[in-house]
Amino acid sequence: MTEAVLPPPATVAIRPLVAGNWKMNGAKQGLEEALAIRDALAVNVVAADVMICPPATLLMVMAEILAAEAENATLQLGGQDCHVAMAGAHTGDVSAEMLQDAGATAVIVGHSERRVDHAETDGMVRSKAAAAHRAGLAAIVCVGETAGERRAGLTLAIVGRQLAGSLPDGAKAANTVVAYEPVWAIGTGLTPTPTDVAEVHAFIRQALAARYGGEGTQMRILYGGSVKPENARQLMAVANVNGALVGGASLKAKDFLGVVAAYAI
Ligand code: 13P
Repeated sequence: MTEAVLPPPATVAIRPLVAGNWKMNGAKQGLEEALAIRDALAVNVVAADVMICPPATLLMVMAEILAAEAENATLQLGGQDCHVAMAGAHTGDVSAEMLQDAGATAVIVGHSERRVDHAETDGMVRSKAAAAHRAGLAAIVCVGETAGERRAGLTLAIVGRQLAGSLPDGAKAANTVVAYEPVWAIGTGLTPTPTDVAEVHAFIRQALAARYGGEGTQMRILYGGSVKPENARQLMAVANVNGALVGGASLKAKDFLGVVAAYAI
């Protein structure tokens, strides 16, 4: 019996995502930056989805302003964290459903700052990602090694453990984004070399494909950590880099648009 020859897998291009994480920054005047980004996107078409994740206090008003001023708002909005429960006695927390209600289409979970500041474990991050899915949001799940872990040659082991523990079963390309953010590159101006980024992103792609099959081959893998207009083009050109998660450079429209320009058509 001759073996069936399978056709090569269809390679569907992955639409990149450039997401700005404002962290605990931004007051009402930050709305002007969001409008400037949205207006620029209306005239300069880019081959990427673009998103801002403002603090929760700005989410709803930003959604209203963006929607009011444009028929086809091209700037998406995301939250920065969510509680695992839908509602209840959890003072100070925000649920994924609340973020969705306020206008978000995604939420960042497991950012290293939350893993450190709030002792979030992989298991908690996984529950938060599942909560995001329950609410109809995409989960942007962050992973990344510390400087010490990289020096010790543990980068892939750490990232592999975080991926396995932080991603829920049944994740799909449409509702799950992985962000590789080396902790030592966040806010420091340091970035891994393109070769190092390629190695980790290829490893993440393999892990996603092994666990989720075709869905895993299509999930977006973002790079984050000191992405700036000056280095965005080089970093975004690396294989398996499907966009960026941008901190400091997302706070000013000019800088953020400089990063987004890596995907100018
Ligand atoms: P910076 O771009 O400021 O290094 O922050 C990256 C980050 O943590 C995005 O989530």
